[in-house]
Amino acid sequence: MKRQNKKRILTGDRPTGPLHIGHYVGSLAQRVELQHTYETFILIADIQALTDNFENPKKVHENVIEVMLDYLSVGINPAVSTIAVQSAIPEIAELTILYMNLVSVGRLEQNPTVKIEIKEKAFGASLPVGFFAYPISQAADITAFGAHLVPVGEDQLPMIEQTREIVRKFNRLYGKTLIEPKELLSKFPRLPGTDGKVKMSKSLGNVINLSDASAIVKKKIRGMYTDPKRLRATDPGTVEGNPVFTYLDAFHTDEKEVSELKNRYRAGTIGDVEVKDRLAEVLHEFLEPIRKRRNEYADNMPRVTKLLRDGTDRAREVTNQTLQSVKKAVHIKYW
Ligand code: TRP
Repeated sequence: MKRQNKKRILTGDRPTGPLHIGHYVGSLAQRVELQHTYETFILIADIQALTDNFENPKKVHENVIEVMLDYLSVGINPAVSTIAVQSAIPEIAELTILYMNLVSVGRLEQNPTVKIEIKEKAFGASLPVGFFAYPISQAADITAFGAHLVPVGEDQLPMIEQTREIVRKFNRLYGKTLIEPKELLSKFPRLPGTDGKVKMSKSLGNVINLSDASAIVKKKIRGMYTDPKRLRATDPGTVEGNPVFTYLDAFHTDEKEVSELKNRYRAGTIGDVEVKDRLAEVLHEFLEPIRKRRNEYADNMPRVTKLLRDGTDRAREVTNQTLQSVKKAVHIKYW
């Protein structure tokens, strides 16, 4: 098969909510683009989502299918890319257990991503072991698929580094078995929230979801943070750090018009409302085809579930091969 000659990519998301336009800019666009160049695997990481949502399993359950619909609606092609759900891949859990021997508590404590999350969530002494150890499980995700490349945002870099360390240690101890992955940083940095905060994040309530209805998007844009110092449309405005313009940069295909709008904004010859309404139109054009595709898939939910199931079966062919070679290397393959 042709797809097997290509280098492999593994990416994933925690299904804790619908995906938003920040996800699109930061990773989904790149995945859609790369799926023809690389053999692409996309993991809906429900087990990882449970590490900090174990009290809320229904939320995770619902969002697995939401995220699947998000992927399909933005143009991840299930005939080209393999979308799989983590909990149905027991090989990942087995690899995690084996890798746990190769990572010290001290090293995990130093993982910047986890360190920040632990602080944010204020776990204290009730830090769940499962959450603390999720970088090991993520290393299992990546290596199970034999991924050469992992497309990620800046915040996930420590995860790739942790994975590489595990791979090196494993290969040194047990013989060269695992592939050492490299990161593929997304071109566009993260999108700010509608409130101007640096990060678009569901918990901050400053997101525009890919599945938001047109009227909701319009309302969210009307309420967007702009230049707080600007009181009248005739005041000279600031474009830098103004999320309305960051969104226009990200989504408007007509760069010339964007630069004209910026000039008029700086000169005080255009009002906030007018720029926002233009942004609403631009986002509408971007989101409409996504909505259309989503509705087509959502009309046949059994098909969506089947696609996820087939993807997971296909994924397991790969992860099982990895697990067998790992077990052999660790001398726990008895027949
Ligand atoms: N940790 C990632 C996130 O929070 C999700 C994820 C799980 C992932 N497994 C992965 C990303 C493997 C890349 C590769 O968004």
